[in-house]
Amino acid sequence: MTNKISSYPAWPYVNGPLHLGHVAGTFVPNDIFVRYQRLRGNDVLSVTGSDTHGTPVTVTAEEEGRTPREVAEEYHALAVASLKQLGISLNLYTHTDTENHYRITQQFFLKLFRDGYIFQQSDPQLYDVDAARFLPDRYVEGECPICHYPRARGDQCENCGNLLDPLQLINPRSRFAKPGETHKLEVRETSHFYLDLPKFNKPLYEWAKQQTHWKPNVLSFTLNYLRGEGADENPTGLKPRAITRDLEWGVPIPPEVGNYPDKRIYVWFDAVIGYYSASVEWAQDFDLGDAWKKWWTVAPDVQSFQFIGKDNIVFHTVIWPALLLGFGDGKLPLPSNVPANEFLNLEGRKFSKSAHWAVWVHEFLATYDADPLRYLLAANLPEYADTDFKWSEFVRRNNDELVATWGNLANRTLTFTYKNFDKRVPTPGALNDDDRALLEKSERALQVVGEAIHACRFRDGLQHAFEIAREANAYLNQTEPWKTIKVDRERAGTSLYVVLRVLDNLKTALYPYLPFSSNELHHQLGYTDDLAGTFETRTIAEETRDHLVLAYIPPKTNAGWKPSALRGGEPLGEPKALFKKLDESVIEIETSKLGK
Ligand code: MF3
Ligand code: ZN
Repeated sequence: MTNKISSYPAWPYVNGPLHLGHVAGTFVPNDIFVRYQRLRGNDVLSVTGSDTHGTPVTVTAEEEGRTPREVAEEYHALAVASLKQLGISLNLYTHTDTENHYRITQQFFLKLFRDGYIFQQSDPQLYDVDAARFLPDRYVEGECPICHYPRARGDQCENCGNLLDPLQLINPRSRFAKPGETHKLEVRETSHFYLDLPKFNKPLYEWAKQQTHWKPNVLSFTLNYLRGEGADENPTGLKPRAITRDLEWGVPIPPEVGNYPDKRIYVWFDAVIGYYSASVEWAQDFDLGDAWKKWWTVAPDVQSFQFIGKDNIVFHTVIWPALLLGFGDGKLPLPSNVPANEFLNLEGRKFSKSAHWAVWVHEFLATYDADPLRYLLAANLPEYADTDFKWSEFVRRNNDELVATWGNLANRTLTFTYKNFDKRVPTPGALNDDDRALLEKSERALQVVGEAIHACRFRDGLQHAFEIAREANAYLNQTEPWKTIKVDRERAGTSLYVVLRVLDNLKTALYPYLPFSSNELHHQLGYTDDLAGTFETRTIAEETRDHLVLAYIPPKTNAGWKPSALRGGEPLGEPKALFKKLDESVIEIETSKLGK
């Protein structure tokens, strides 16, 4: 059965380049997932883009003396290049500073406002007297009232994940104060629009309780958040939340609501709407009319997945579903699964732009290939706990696993066959028990790996495929076709034929993880079509501004998530090494750049 599967990585802020931590928990797992689903024959829509709004971008712009739009466009273009090079096969990667997104965000706002889910209220806010500005969100830092982390931000505590209001911070400090300065802060009244979340509390709680297939931490965080101090029959965790800010950068308040030139819609309200607006944009950019609606309909064969970091859970399991309920009147599907990931650290410490403790994706890919990075990130995916990127591990796994196990299995089999069997798949004799056992295991691997990927257990899937590769290496070492060929050509040909089919099966199983090398191996095995599609970057013109997008065009191929059908006598492509061995010196060279 064909399912309609939509899958969305979180929208990264474009206040700097993407680092490995950004892609580890969102883009990479999303890509493994969608590449698998496409091969399975499902109808897949995967879109996201750069989050251009909010104080992360405005703070950077002020520091650099540029406009937020300039900052966002620069890093968006860099993100597009990095994601393309990493092979992140989104149907569309756009950004939120588009007319399409503004219009749709305003539609959400207006509908919720008219239906009484948004109200206006005057409330006390922190005001920086020296800078003469209100201090929304990240313009203020202080101690978290819940976990007492000392550098919590005004919007959210990075340490415990709780959403905060700047007024809750203990000893708040203004970001406008230069080091050594203290600014005088006052509490002043300002009027904002609020999302009346309590109205959604009960329906969201009832919905969330049914999501027993979610990761335990995602489910319990969400249920606790919704329940609050209330009882199971009467959950009371949700409070109204301000969804506008005193800023000049962001989506304006719809004119139908009133004239508010100094206020903008809060970044988190607009960013999540991006999932919907980017789906609409995808259909527009490709002249597909309302094809996007296939994935935005409630039906048993429609499912959606959101790949996010753990600090984003409430926005995706509470706020976004609330907006969907209010805007869609029950006719828009809520997320089926939100497999949030923990964080990737770097050599034992948190990634930090200011401390120069980061590995940037574009710099990494200027020197090393995409598949080895995807491999390491998938093998180390922070699925259930924080994990660590270490250069020594990158070199070791590249050399011992990609090169020595998988690459070598492919290369020694293909070179030997190519040379000794007339560049063709050997015609096998009768298969013995060992031959059949290995072949069957490699066919079953497709099922095992596929189930793991569908359940978002990406590390398990990868491990399983590599186990079979190891067994195939052991089988080759035992059958030694390079020796047998001298006495029994047919037997040698039979074991090579078996391994070629195993390679063909594992190429499919590993394709979601390693699309570039799997596609190359697909050709070496003699296929003339492409397993992987192509990328296109386009500039989309709207009335007032243009924007750059990246789009993946899936291939026309007969290949699918199905066992090898290679047959004796079929021609092979020219064998080439799939991976490069890395020198140990890489470790020292790369680690010495950190923190500088
Ligand atoms: N920009 C946010 C972050 O980096 C994520 C936004 S995801 C969205 O934490 F879907 F809500 F947009
Ligand atoms: Zn905290």
